[in-house]
Amino acid sequence: MSKLIAPSILAADFANLQRDIEMVNESEADWFHIDIMDGVFVPNISFGMPVLKAINKYAGKIIDVHLMIVDPDRYIDTFAELGADILTVHYEACPHLHRTLQAIKAAGMRTGVALNPHTNVSLLEDVITDIDLVCMMSVNPGFGGQSFIENTYKKVKQLKEIIADNNASTQIEIDGGVTDQNAKQLVEAGADVLVAGSFVFKSTNPSETIKDLRSIANS
Ligand code: DX5
Ligand code: ZN
Repeated sequence: MSKLIAPSILAADFANLQRDIEMVNESEADWFHIDIMDGVFVPNISFGMPVLKAINKYAGKIIDVHLMIVDPDRYIDTFAELGADILTVHYEACPHLHRTLQAIKAAGMRTGVALNPHTNVSLLEDVITDIDLVCMMSVNPGFGGQSFIENTYKKVKQLKEIIADNNASTQIEIDGGVTDQNAKQLVEAGADVLVAGSFVFKSTNPSETIKDLRSIANS
């Protein structure tokens, strides 16, 4: 199956958001990655519901919402109504993760669980068959433009084994510091989806950068 590219809108130009959304629509990107931060779970606030509503109005691809918020259960139905196709919650923010995942499914979305860099992948073993997407953080969540943490490769391999041992169809997404320098090695380790923010939007030709990244991931 093709490896997917999900540009992170956090790195877009918010004063030209429609333009940047259209660029992603017309590019070879597969998904829109949308980072919602609450200033509590992570030390930064990004944007919330009204902005997601505006994005959904123009976005013509899968909307992958990454919630970096405490108590995400409060907003599951709201995010479904706003057009999220995949809803990712953080393992570290969910004391009743199994229940949260059932609620996401019941609201008609695909389930995602994000892991901070220090969180061991084995903690997902007992819920892996309920997870459509694991978002493996390869930076500490909260900001775009950080450096990739090398330990991620090891974690991806470990997670891939857990998925295979349980006959699960979970996809592995890498989030943070993805570039053309680590894309190939990430895919070789077992990654299915690569999120890229700064590398795409700070480049001189974002559409071409998406194309290049996708071709490296699928080479
Ligand atoms: C970080 C976010 C990432 C971020 C990635 O908390 O979850 O999605 O936008 O940005 P880059 O690719 O710049 O590291
Ligand atoms: Zn993210």
